[in-house]
Amino acid sequence: MSAKGWPVRLTDGRVGLRPLRVRDATAWSEVRIRNEGWLAPWEGRPVTQPPSSWSDRHTGSVFAAMLRTARREARAGRSLPLAITYDGRLAGQITASNVIRGAFDSTSVGYWVDGALAGRGILPTALALLVDHCFGTIGLHRVEANIRPENTPSRRVVEKLGFRQEGLHERYLFIDGDWRDHLSYAVTSEDVPEGMLRRWHATRTAAP
Ligand SMILES: CC(C)(COP(=O)(O)OP(=O)(O)OC[C@H]1O[C@@H](n2cnc3c(N)ncnc32)[C@H](O)[C@@H]1OP(=O)(O)O)[C@@H](O)C(=O)NCCC(=O)NCCS
Repeated sequence: MSAKGWPVRLTDGRVGLRPLRVRDATAWSEVRIRNEGWLAPWEGRPVTQPPSSWSDRHTGSVFAAMLRTARREARAGRSLPLAITYDGRLAGQITASNVIRGAFDSTSVGYWVDGALAGRGILPTALALLVDHCFGTIGLHRVEANIRPENTPSRRVVEKLGFRQEGLHERYLFIDGDWRDHLSYAVTSEDVPEGMLRRWHATRTAAP
């Protein structure tokens, strides 16, 4: 049996969210390898993991292992690991992980998009779809995003959607060879009674 709100497919215009599937393997390896310089500075990996090349971390068998873990975590209700599509093609990933129920009812999000498609508002649309699903269908109360201070594009994504900056986590994640500080952003369901996607559309329409 699957968790509430999983599996899910969400769409807004040219942007779609859906579970990853086995036949994404080739496209995933291609886009990830092509984007090494774009993605590597922002992605955490366990400090105990032995060094390996970027291409070795993006083989078909690595994808298969990631997919198995993603499906298990999603079925258990601990995570919503989704492919982002743009005009139906794999364009990135967004994951709501560390889903904690009970009095916390919270999750934290991570994401990336193909650098060739940056600047089109794909991520704000994807994140707004996911936040509305977390609050509306799953019944979570809080969504947080932790972002390195120097990651201006990612900070812009959450700021455009109205996330609050709540503080600084020092030496929060092991990224690119060291423990990196992260700014903590969050939104709770009371902040977006009209829905985040609706607000995002209103913001874009109002922009000069
Ligand atoms: C962060 C990221 C997901 C944003 O996705 P996106 O779909 O491009 O988001 P937007 O279109 O809203 O653009 C966000 C900001 O990126 C910057 N940006 C726009 N086009 C850009 C480009 N071609 N190259 C670099 N940055 C660009 C702008 O600052 C923009 O903010 P603005 O709307 O105020 O101008 C994307 O930059 C990315 O994948 N980065 C690498 C991985 C990463 O940082 N993940 C998040 C870790 S916390």
